[in-house]
Amino acid sequence: MSTFKAPKGTYDLLPPESAKYLAVREAIAAPLRGSGYGYIETPGFENVELFARGVGESTDIVTKEMYAFETKGGDRLALRPEGTASVLRAALEANLHKAGNLPVKLWYSGSYYRYERPQKGRYRHFSQVGAEAIGAEDPALDAELIILADQAYRSLGLQNFRILLNSLGDKECRPVYREALQNFLRGLDLDEDTLRRAEINPLRVLDDKRESVQKQLGDAPLLRDYLCDACKAYHEEVRELVTAAGVVFEDDPKLVRGLDYYTRTTFEFVHDGLGSQSAVGGGGRYDGLSEMIGGPALPSVGWALGVDRTVLALEAEGVELELPVTTSVFAVPLGDEARRVLFAKVTELRKNGVAADFSYGGKGLKAAMKAANRSGARYALILGERDIEQGLVQLKDLESGEQTAVGLNEIVAELESRLG
Ligand code: HAM
Repeated sequence: MSTFKAPKGTYDLLPPESAKYLAVREAIAAPLRGSGYGYIETPGFENVELFARGVGESTDIVTKEMYAFETKGGDRLALRPEGTASVLRAALEANLHKAGNLPVKLWYSGSYYRYERPQKGRYRHFSQVGAEAIGAEDPALDAELIILADQAYRSLGLQNFRILLNSLGDKECRPVYREALQNFLRGLDLDEDTLRRAEINPLRVLDDKRESVQKQLGDAPLLRDYLCDACKAYHEEVRELVTAAGVVFEDDPKLVRGLDYYTRTTFEFVHDGLGSQSAVGGGGRYDGLSEMIGGPALPSVGWALGVDRTVLALEAEGVELELPVTTSVFAVPLGDEARRVLFAKVTELRKNGVAADFSYGGKGLKAAMKAANRSGARYALILGERDIEQGLVQLKDLESGEQTAVGLNEIVAELESRLG
C-alpha cells in the first residue's frame, strides 16, 4: 500500500466495477445523441464569479461547497460544482446562439466538485451527464428533456425511480409568492439561521429536512396558487406533453432546487432505494441565467443526472448491466519463438476488431491458463514449439473445455467467424 489515500469524500473507479460507470454514461448519452444534442466539453474550473452569479450567492453550493482558489497569476477560480453555468458561458462565448438555429442543444459528461459532508451517495468529487437546450421557450423542449431522462433510466433497467415536477413561476409571479411565503415564515418558531435564510432565500426553507421545521410548514402558501396565467398555461402544457408520452410523474408543489437560476419548470428524479441522498438527477428551466452572466435573454432548460447515484440505484434494485466483453481471446505462448509468433497473431486479431490479451512475463502453462480463465475470455490460444513446427495452434474453448488444433494461418479467420 502507498502512504497516500484518495482524498476524503472521493473514491477510485477500478475494474471491473468501473465498466458500470462507463455503461451508465453511455446509456444516458445515447438518447441525447439521438435527439439533436451535440457534445460539449468545458474546463474543470471557471472564474469563481460565474458560479457566484449563476448558481446564486446565497446557495449552499456557493457559500459552503465551492473549491475556490487564487492562482499564482491572481485569478480567482473555482472547480466547477455544476455544469449549467459553464455550458451557457461557453455557448455565449462562441456565439452559438447567433448561428440562427435555436435552441442550441448540448450534452456533456464529466467530473464536478462540491465540498460537502461525505456520506453514501454524496461525494466531494462526483460525475454527471447533463443536457442543456439553450435559447427557446417551448413546453415541448421541457417535455423532451424529461422524456429523454426517463428513457435513459429505463434503458438501464431502472424501475423504482419517480419524477417530481413543479413550476417555480417567473419574474412576474415569483416575487409575489416570495413575499407571501416570507410573511408566513416570519410568524413561525424558527432558529436565527433559518429566519435569516427566510429573508434571503425563503423558498429554500421549504426544502429544510428537519422535522421541527417541516411540521410548521403544513399551511405554508404554495407557489402553485400564485402562478401567473402564462406560467400556469406553460406548466399545464408541459404536464400534458409528458403524460401523452406515457411518462409518469408526480406533482410536487414543494419541490425547490439547490440552485437559484430556476424559473418555471423544475423537476427531480428520485430513487427510493438510496436513503437520504435520493436525488439521482434534477433540472429545470433557467430563463434568466444568460442575462445574469452578462448575455442576452436566452430562455433555456436542462438537467444533469448523477452517475454515482445512478450506479447505486442500479445496485439497490439488483440490476445487472450487460457489459461489453473486454477480452474474447487470451493468448498463451510457451517459449520465446512462440511468444514472437503469437504476439503477431494477437496484434492481427486486435486489428480485425477481436478483443485479445496476451500472457506476459514468461509464465508457465499453469499460471498462464489461470490468467486466461480470470480474464473472462471465451477462447485461449496456446502455442508450443511442436505446434510451430506443424504450423498449428491449439484453440481451447474455455466454456466447454474443448480443444482443437487450427492452422496458424487460419486462426484469425476461424476466431472471427466463431465470435461472429
Ligand atoms: P443538481 O441537482 O445540483 O443539479 O445535481 C444533479 C445531480 O448530480 C443530483 O441529482 C445528484 O445525482 C448528482 N450530485 C449532486 N451533488 C452530488 C454529490 N455531492 N455527490 C454525488 N452526486 C451528486 C445540477 O447540477 C444542475 N446543473 C442541473 C441542471 C442542468 N439544471 C439545468 N440544467
